Amino acid sequence: MTARILDGKVLSLTIQSEIATAAEQLKREHNIVPGLAVILVGDDPASQVYVRNKAKACERVGFHSKTFALPSETAQKYIMDLIKELNKDNAIHGILVQLPLPHHIDENAIINAINTDKDVDGFHPINVGRMVIGKEDCFLPCTPFGIQTLMMRNGIETGGRHVVIVGRSNIVGKPTAIILMQKAVGADATVTVCHSRTKNLPEIVRQGDIVIAAIGRANFVTADMVSPGAVVIDVGINRVKDFSTKTGYALVGDVDFENVKEVASAITPVPGGIGPMTIAMLLFNTLKAARKTLK
Ligand code: GUN
Repeated sequence: MTARILDGKVLSLTIQSEIATAAEQLKREHNIVPGLAVILVGDDPASQVYVRNKAKACERVGFHSKTFALPSETAQKYIMDLIKELNKDNAIHGILVQLPLPHHIDENAIINAINTDKDVDGFHPINVGRMVIGKEDCFLPCTPFGIQTLMMRNGIETGGRHVVIVGRSNIVGKPTAIILMQKAVGADATVTVCHSRTKNLPEIVRQGDIVIAAIGRANFVTADMVSPGAVVIDVGINRVKDFSTKTGYALVGDVDFENVKEVASAITPVPGGIGPMTIAMLLFNTLKAARKTLK
């Protein structure tokens, strides 16, 4: 049996139309238009695509957005000053600094400078702390939040099930583990995190009722690592050479999709899986940030 394909693109558009309706109401009743500032430093092609997609999505749901595309040699002080300005700007409700940043810039210092009420990525230590505590109001990081939402909206139960996460990054692996182990609806999972130093990794991944691949290596999760009937969520976006395409490369996930889909019960594609969900949750967080100004 072939796995059910979990379509993140269609679900993202559904959520975006819900957000557009909510944004219209916010405009009508309070004359507030949610605003997102995106800071991109350098010319990494993947980051440029992500940032463009974020700006386009803002337009689609009736938000306004400002992109600051800065050269890779931009001084840290310049970015800090820009963030200070945006922190004060009443038309901007969300601030996102696209990662990774060039090596001469201290990523933590930049994230720490963002007003916690505008931290729509949920990367500021205050929001990370609130997320860990679980009960407190915070911004959940967009990709883990997108993974949880995709599973919930597709009726995939996580309660009491074993989720095996492959990858321990601050952006995906770690926060996904925290979110899915919470005592909450859409969570309550038993979570194991594997990474590049894990011994017997295939054996552990085979124990997963749900496998979340976020290690950044093309086709890392193979069919023999997946137990029959497992749900497989692929967070990877890897650029590999493919001479059959016009551009000479193709985007593939961390999962060997063609073979794993014959074993799994449900699977996310790349592209069109978690990527679009990340954008939907960014818009959700920006709307939430705009509503916070009402209180
Ligand atoms: N780089 C990769 N994913 C993300 C994300 O969700 N937010 C930001 N700011 N940078 C990223």
